[in-house]
Amino acid sequence: MRSLHLGLDAPRTGPRQAVLALASAPLDWLDAHRGGFLHADEEVLLTDRLHARRRHGVLIGRYAAKCALAALRPDLDPRSLAIRPGVLEQPVLSGGSIDNLGISLSHAGPVAVAVAFPEACPMGIDLERIRPANVALLTRQTTAAERRNLATRLDAPEAERLTRLWCLKEALSKALRCGLTVPLELLAVGSVEARPPGFGVTFANFAQYQGLSLAAGDLAAALVLPRPPAVTLAVEPAEWESFRQALADAAAREPGE
Ligand SMILES: CC(C)(COP(=O)(O)OP(=O)(O)OC[C@H]1O[C@@H](n2cnc3c(N)ncnc32)[C@H](O)[C@@H]1OP(=O)(O)O)[C@@H](O)C(=O)NCCC(=O)NCCS
Repeated sequence: MRSLHLGLDAPRTGPRQAVLALASAPLDWLDAHRGGFLHADEEVLLTDRLHARRRHGVLIGRYAAKCALAALRPDLDPRSLAIRPGVLEQPVLSGGSIDNLGISLSHAGPVAVAVAFPEACPMGIDLERIRPANVALLTRQTTAAERRNLATRLDAPEAERLTRLWCLKEALSKALRCGLTVPLELLAVGSVEARPPGFGVTFANFAQYQGLSLAAGDLAAALVLPRPPAVTLAVEPAEWESFRQALADAAAREPGE
């Protein structure tokens, strides 16, 4: 497990903190240890009808989320906090004395990322495996301008470039709470610039948001949050690098490890 504190300089609300967490664990480990991090209201999500893959997703996503929350609010017992689906299937955090905190999470097999953030500063996160077999599909889900802009900034295989674009759109859809129920052109990526932890983007139709993309091994992740001047993110490049290394380690692990 790895967590990263995100300093948020927000002139309207004053400085705030968010925490990004990455976790990886096999299903049997999560099942054996779930009593240490699940709330009773989350336990009921684990019905017998759940496919093992979905059970793994629910558990690893909540484990990563509780790690992020524990780093942000070490005074709270993770078992006193519940993350349950809202009416749009969005994660809703309740319990403890969590004054207006939000959570976004994403799972890819045994790996998950989560971000715990002040609701004053909405965020979305996504994690995907980079698979060359998805190139044709992802090409259809991106515009020529998006592909061209990214290709001039990122010297990486096509599958990686396309997956990173996809993650950015999905992370934006979570920050907006709409999920991928809207035409994908609405979520289009605008400008691209090199910056830690990989590159940063703006969005063609949502000028108030920025996206950050990182990738390591066959995993790609994206974080979306409000952009300057609303929020300026303060994270040391070395901290980003250490988080990217944790992503590389998670990608290198066998699925069952
Ligand atoms: C959100 C979405 C893009 C995630 O897709 P995915 O690649 O399958 O899954 P990921 O692992 O990246 O993310 C899953 C997490 O996204 C979160 N999520 C789901 N819907 C969300 C939404 N509308 N807004 C923000 N986050 C959402 C959940 O926390 C979910 O994990 P959980 O179910 O274990 O709690 C996809 O599920 C989607 O488009 N959902 C919208 C569905 C919808 O609007 N339904 C309406 C029902 S009335």
